Amino acid sequence: MTAKKGLSKRSKGKVKKMEEAKVGVFLSDCGGQIAKILDFEALTGFLKTVNGVALVARGSEFWRGQGLQAIVDAVKEKKINRVVVAENIPKISEIAITKAVEEAELNPHLVEVLDIKDHCAWPHKDTPKEATEKAKAMLLAAVEKAKLLEPIEKTEFPAVKSVLVIGGGIAGIQAAEDLADMGFQVYLVEKEPFLGGLAAKAVRFFPTDDCAICIQSPTSDLKTVTQTSRKCVYRSGFSEIPNLNVLTNSKIVKVEGAPGNFKVTVERKPRYVNEKKCVACDLCTSVCPVEVPDEYNAKLKTRKAIYVNKPLVYPPVYAIDAKACKFHECAKCVEVCPTKAIELDQKTEHLTLNVGSVIVATGFREYDPSVIKEYHYGEYPDIVTHLELARMLDAFGPTNGTVVRPSDGKPAKRIVFVQCVGSRDRRWNPYCSSICCMISLKHATLIKSAFPDTDVTICYIDIRTTGREHEYYYERAREIGVKFVKGRPAEIVHDPATNTLVVEVEDELLRRLLELEADLVVLATAMVSSENARELAEILGIELDQDGFFKEYNAKLRPTETKRRGIFLCGGATFPKDAPTASLHAHSAAVKAAKFLMNGKIVKDLKVAVVNEDYCGDCEFCPVTCPYGAITLEPKGEGHFVARVSELLCEGCGVCVGTCPVGAIELRHLKPSQISAQMKALLSINGTSKPLVLAISCSECGNAAIDSSGMAMMSYPANVRVLRVPCTGIVQVQHILEAFKAGAQGVMVVGCKPDGCHYEVGSQKTHKKVELAKTLLKAYGIEPERLEMFNLVYIEGDKFAEAAKMMTERVEKLGSLQLA
Ligand code: FES
Repeated sequence: MTAKKGLSKRSKGKVKKMEEAKVGVFLSDCGGQIAKILDFEALTGFLKTVNGVALVARGSEFWRGQGLQAIVDAVKEKKINRVVVAENIPKISEIAITKAVEEAELNPHLVEVLDIKDHCAWPHKDTPKEATEKAKAMLLAAVEKAKLLEPIEKTEFPAVKSVLVIGGGIAGIQAAEDLADMGFQVYLVEKEPFLGGLAAKAVRFFPTDDCAICIQSPTSDLKTVTQTSRKCVYRSGFSEIPNLNVLTNSKIVKVEGAPGNFKVTVERKPRYVNEKKCVACDLCTSVCPVEVPDEYNAKLKTRKAIYVNKPLVYPPVYAIDAKACKFHECAKCVEVCPTKAIELDQKTEHLTLNVGSVIVATGFREYDPSVIKEYHYGEYPDIVTHLELARMLDAFGPTNGTVVRPSDGKPAKRIVFVQCVGSRDRRWNPYCSSICCMISLKHATLIKSAFPDTDVTICYIDIRTTGREHEYYYERAREIGVKFVKGRPAEIVHDPATNTLVVEVEDELLRRLLELEADLVVLATAMVSSENARELAEILGIELDQDGFFKEYNAKLRPTETKRRGIFLCGGATFPKDAPTASLHAHSAAVKAAKFLMNGKIVKDLKVAVVNEDYCGDCEFCPVTCPYGAITLEPKGEGHFVARVSELLCEGCGVCVGTCPVGAIELRHLKPSQISAQMKALLSINGTSKPLVLAISCSECGNAAIDSSGMAMMSYPANVRVLRVPCTGIVQVQHILEAFKAGAQGVMVVGCKPDGCHYEVGSQKTHKKVELAKTLLKAYGIEPERLEMFNLVYIEGDKFAEAAKMMTERVEKLGSLQLA
């Protein structure tokens, strides 16, 4: 992908040459509050002696108003080219300060913001002299780092305003429609000949018993569509949005390119019926001699080799089943078709789509319960799944809405539902599929309402009704006579003499064994990920979770994103969902995709990793380690290769840096020299009677925990100094050794929880490195207890304060560290 670099003229100019650093330091005393603890005269005096500092200013605040203007003036008039600001709430103030600095024509990456309130004044308020000495060390570290900062330019990458949606169930349709409605070019790709997915078979959805195939109508000015909120798929008009292209019988076989500019190869199988010519007159089926079991109708009836799924269907045109059709041997349909729509010589096509982003909406499917031998599914015909029952309950279905025994077609008068079949069971799927209880309640209620004489029993472990109005649905089922037995059936047996099924179950409430006679047993199976999820995940370069569903970037905060930029998820692709939740998810994914592409370009600060090719070569650590797939290996000379970093994909976490065995990779925004300079500065001034402890913390949860302990004025000793890095994943064993060499008596590594690292793997990898470093320390004759990793989150500021005290006491007890 071609990227335009150096958008800002001033940035571009500054990139060319490193000029001598003229550091301006701006000290906020937070309206005088922290001046009651820190000696600002001493701090100002100290800073004036630091090499490279050209200006020291003190004020009430520097992130807005006059304070911010003072920074701008210093940059413009006094030609300050590095800015250090000691400010409150650095995360927020940094945004305003860097923006103002950029407007003053200084590269915004030449700014260093630190927090001497929450990281110094408040936690050390009882020892003001020590706090002032620590503040000096912190300011010195910021100045030393600032002197080594280099400008970082922005780059822009083109983004095609076009989206591929994979999966034509209700989530995929909704996401496609939303995006097309917003003006994006959309391709909706469905592997089956018809859209609708599971919803098309499910007929009704709880809790309203409304049509399953109902979606929100487009709001585009389509002449044929009224602006009501919802419509059946086939009459919603979504397919008539000019910029929405529906590709049925199609699947994704290759994805190349980069976010914003993917090249997708779609394999489109022939339908053998020209969609533009077919008028759905049905003459073809009347002459077709081939009958096959109708999978759409749970094989409870047959269909012809040329067929259409009625009545909820899009596109409303016929398709030929290539496995069943005799083609030119027969060709009767060709003869009778009045519009010449049947084209038996159609071939598989490969289309290439250029899209900026991709939404995966491949849904879920019923688990095949035939593997659960004690339930004999597939062996006894009167044991069915919910989807098979749903087809019977469909007035247009194989039994015209009556519930029968598939074995003999007689009405089923005694029906037993079995819950959690293949779910909440470690033998098959340990998770709860979340919607099966409601599906059973829906079907039991529909049956009992339509056929009150039917005896309906639900065997359950727990009935889970967590959605809005769902509990009322459960109450209604009880009121109309649905029976409930708490217990997971041990076996379903068949009495051939009476053609009756017997469900053996222990009623856990009444503590007795029951043998429930049934004409029909309905298995509420687990819902599992779509059939080709793994293959598609590999093609797209995204992950599946431990249960085989597509893994979102963050379940709480980024539930429709993946780790691969530009690829989004929605609906049951991430986990089984009911229709309202799938719809909500689809809207969310559509908004995310739209936001990603709306400007037609992706603008990015190049805070990324860079490779030194002179050192790099012939190992595969960083490509394997990078959580974002941003590093590839490229040949360099015969039999050799070097790492290449994608500027677009790199998130600048530094996990690769922490992995490289030869130091050949570094971050542009935190170079090894900057880490060393800060480390030395932080450990160059003690000012307390206690041994110095260096806390290397990630900028995310680790630093947030340190912030919160300060904000809550929790005290810990001032000998603890914090060095912030993007992610603890950047930490190398040599950093730890270097810290001890620079004067630390103890080292704390403070990161996110192992499974909560903002860059996925950093915290876990660092844990291993810390263990390795302990072994090395021991070998060097240094007590390994001097090193410890802590995994914290924002609300655990108290734990940081405790850890800081504990480490201080521990190294005090160990005594002074003497390095040769
Ligand atoms: Fe906190 Fe990775 S971001 S440890």
